[in-house]
Amino acid sequence: MEFEVKNNPESNFWQSFENQKRKPRMMRPTPVDKEIVLDNDKVLLSITDAKGVIEYCNEDFVAVSGYEEHELSNAAHSIVRHPDMPRVVFKLMWTRIQNKQNIIAVVKNLAKTGRYYWVITDFVIKEDKEGNIIGYKAYRKPAPRKAIEAVIPLYRKLRNIEDTNGVEASERFLNGFFEGKNTNYDDFIEKLIIDNLELDTVVDNENEIEKPITKMERKSFFKRLFGY
Ligand SMILES: Cc1cc2nc3c(=O)[nH]c(=O)nc-3n(C[C@H](O)[C@H](O)[C@H](O)COP(=O)(O)O)c2cc1C
Repeated sequence: MEFEVKNNPESNFWQSFENQKRKPRMMRPTPVDKEIVLDNDKVLLSITDAKGVIEYCNEDFVAVSGYEEHELSNAAHSIVRHPDMPRVVFKLMWTRIQNKQNIIAVVKNLAKTGRYYWVITDFVIKEDKEGNIIGYKAYRKPAPRKAIEAVIPLYRKLRNIEDTNGVEASERFLNGFFEGKNTNYDDFIEKLIIDNLELDTVVDNENEIEKPITKMERKSFFKRLFGY
């Protein structure tokens, strides 16, 4: 009888038994102040379930992270979390993706060696037929230098505020930071990237003038950036 219950995939017992296979958090590597500079043609992809547990990582992701596939598979995505990253950025990320929205975030990740690498993210939400979120795909490209340089002092301030006053205080600071600049996280990052590539204007050949780029052109820019 007990045997039957154990092997019935419908039973809660079986489910909790299966869940035990989920990895306990690994010891995080000690950060080393050395960057892994990513090749521009790399796209680091990971696919997770709805809770951010890794189901799949492509070869580029695996190679850069320094882990083996079996170490990444079934691990919480925080396996590559770098302690310099403010918690509020992940709070924003989760709020967005749980609302089925993308976020172009600049993230410092931690490799198994303790070295770090900077990426920009692009999320795809996986839904079932009823529209329930069943997982996420995260594409990452090397973050442009200008974007990294801009977020380093901001992230440092946010981390310090979090350490002293908690994540709500850093969220208020971040909101104020964007309010002061009349922008939001994505536009701030997009502008940095576009400015960096001097793409904030395009030449209108017909009228031989330079004009500001439109939302559509921005979109196709990100399409080109991520290559799909
Ligand atoms: C699809 C997906 C991709 C993610 N990618 C990263 C990532 O590259 N780096 C990272 O630190 N966290 C990533 N996260 C967020 C983590 O799940 C986690 O919230 C974050 O690392 C903070 O960890 P903590 O809540 O344990 O502090 C991702 C989450 C999802 C759903």
